[in-house]
Amino acid sequence: MPKIHFLPEELRLKIAAGEVIERPASVIKELLENAFDAWADYIRVEFEKGGLERIVVYDNGIGMAPEDLKLCYRSFTTSKIKELSDIFAITTYGFRGEALSSIAQVSRLKIVSIERGASLPFEIEIEFGKEKSFRPSRLKEGTLVEVRDLFENLPARKAFLKSVKNESAKNVEIFKALLLPHPEKRAALFIDGKEIYNWKGGSLKELFSYLFELPAEYLKETHFECQPYKISLLLTDTRKSFSHGRYLFIFVNNRLIKDDKLTKYIYHLLKRFFGNLGFPAGVIKLDLPPQLVDFNVHPAKWEVRFKREREVFSILDEAIKNHYTTQKSSFYFKETPSDTEWKIMEDLPLSYETISTQKKEIQKGTYLFEKKTLEDFKILGTFKETYLVIEKEESLYIIDQHALSERIHYEFLKKSEFFSFPQKLLLPFLIKLTSEMFENLDKKLEILTKLGFDLELISEEEILVKGAPPDLLEFAREILENLLVLPDFDFLSAREALLKELACKRAIKKGDSLTKEEIRHLIELMFRENLETCPHGRPIYIKLDVSEIEKRLKRRP
Ligand SMILES: Nc1ncnc2c1ncn2[C@@H]1O[C@H](COP(=O)(O)OP(=O)(O)OP(=O)(O)O)[C@@H](O)[C@H]1O
Ligand SMILES: [Mg+2]
Repeated sequence: MPKIHFLPEELRLKIAAGEVIERPASVIKELLENAFDAWADYIRVEFEKGGLERIVVYDNGIGMAPEDLKLCYRSFTTSKIKELSDIFAITTYGFRGEALSSIAQVSRLKIVSIERGASLPFEIEIEFGKEKSFRPSRLKEGTLVEVRDLFENLPARKAFLKSVKNESAKNVEIFKALLLPHPEKRAALFIDGKEIYNWKGGSLKELFSYLFELPAEYLKETHFECQPYKISLLLTDTRKSFSHGRYLFIFVNNRLIKDDKLTKYIYHLLKRFFGNLGFPAGVIKLDLPPQLVDFNVHPAKWEVRFKREREVFSILDEAIKNHYTTQKSSFYFKETPSDTEWKIMEDLPLSYETISTQKKEIQKGTYLFEKKTLEDFKILGTFKETYLVIEKEESLYIIDQHALSERIHYEFLKKSEFFSFPQKLLLPFLIKLTSEMFENLDKKLEILTKLGFDLELISEEEILVKGAPPDLLEFAREILENLLVLPDFDFLSAREALLKELACKRAIKKGDSLTKEEIRHLIELMFRENLETCPHGRPIYIKLDVSEIEKRLKRRP
């Protein structure tokens, strides 16, 4: 009996809509992008109940003629491209002709619009994909789109949404992010009738500082050009870093990008300057000819493919290097902090992803605002890019940077809850069992499962590894192979071994070059916490008292 049949169009449209419109924030994103494409210089966004009840986006752009208004909510209707080749030279946000049709399928949609230069505005109302009315309306200029009762016809999708507060936060986040490439435009945001932002236009630095409440003095802007690429960077310096990259926005041709590969590469570039400090806040903007980039990769256009990826990556490398190295004189190598200053705990170097217990631990014994005291040691330099040379009181310290960093990571990991939930591996892998591994295998598997590994004994000879604790994904094989050969272990000793491995993997390595800021943070922690040995028991430093030096140099008997 054949089982395959065509899905009814109604269902097809709803499925397609789900790919574009995932939540209220997706609606806001699409409507804002349409407003920018319509050359608006004023945009107002309003939403109620996290956007589930109502979202309104008004813009003063070019508007639509009544014939276009009748068409704009139908699938695959667009004014932005005409033929396939246009996709490879896109200069507008939109090109699929799917956003309004997707929104129309899953909400009660009303669009009021007047074409620039025309005298009569029109409005159209669509309920879950069906046109309900079309008539003359009232609006002085531009376009007003109102979306009510989002996902009311798709209860399953609605149930998957987070709380109103959460959706609200996502809406605000997207509003702020999408505005960043357009600082010259005016924009306002209202939540449940209350004005939250009212931006009157200005520079990118002013806008960022306004939206993220970050003093402009921490932000530096540089521009880097290497034909045909242009990169603009607006980034905080190492005095303002965050444990996450949530305040770091990447734009390619003004489009907000959440591309895993590109993001990871940028994080890697920034690590050279931020090390353990985390990430800067700010904007990384890359502009290149539209023929060299493909945005038609992800249904919500979050991802990109570059024609000449290697070239793009190396330009980014140069631009970031240039941004931070020209800054050195102003803050990197400032010898001592200027008097006492207030620093927010979030800037501490040892912050990890926000897991509640870790946060608590980081703040234990300190305050949210910790008073930074004048340091009582002097950084003399680095020997062989491995040993930090420090003067403190009457002693000279030669410190192994890897051992110290490893111990600091270990201390934080010990207090964390890292090993509770396995994360699925994209590519499960097999471990071939050796005879040592067979010893007490059942017990070992039970303990490793408790520690967050997802393992399955699939034959006499092999274990299939399907998941691992999120922080250990990339080292899972190495760690499991090391642990499984141990003849016996209990939960606590296995956990400790894992933490040591992880701390070692995360630590600064021998030969890594550190900024003075990073060195200062490491040393401060070493003295404050009295750290003496690395997790494996090796000493962290050699201490030479001045008296001993004098004795050896025969300056004193
Ligand atoms: N705010 C607006 N002002 C003027 N015209 C608009 C506005 N919003 C939509 N339109 C018109 O409606 C068309 C359809 O919009 P829609 O967002 O569905 O598709 P798109 O922007 O062309 O492509 P995409 O699906 O990639 O966003 C647009 O091409 C544009 O002509
Ligand atoms: Mg669009």
